[in-house]
Amino acid sequence: MTDGTPSYYKHHIFFCLNERTNGEASCSQHNAQGAFDRCKQLVKAAGLAGPGKVRVNKAGCLDRCAGGPIAVVYPEEVWYTYVDEQDIDEIVESHLKSGKVVERLLTPPGVGR
Ligand code: FES
Repeated sequence: MTDGTPSYYKHHIFFCLNERTNGEASCSQHNAQGAFDRCKQLVKAAGLAGPGKVRVNKAGCLDRCAGGPIAVVYPEEVWYTYVDEQDIDEIVESHLKSGKVVERLLTPPGVGR
């Protein structure tokens, strides 16, 4: 936080699980639920879950669908486009565990809906 107060969670990751039925792209078409479940499970198993540590949450559309499937980590505001389970494993291992951003999975700047 900008006032120097530590954030409640060290890393708070949100997975877009939005599902569209009108034919437009949405993250749920790319197994976002599976990625969310895996992340949650890995964070819990690693003992990372809880205040001062990591929280994994579901989200609706984050309005960057063209880069989907999307996850975003706060307070750093790091946006990820992941593809498979290995990507989730790397986000957990590198970013959520060690604070090191996974550069290769960053959502390109300017990607919107
Ligand atoms: S549907 Fe996932 S960011 Fe919009």
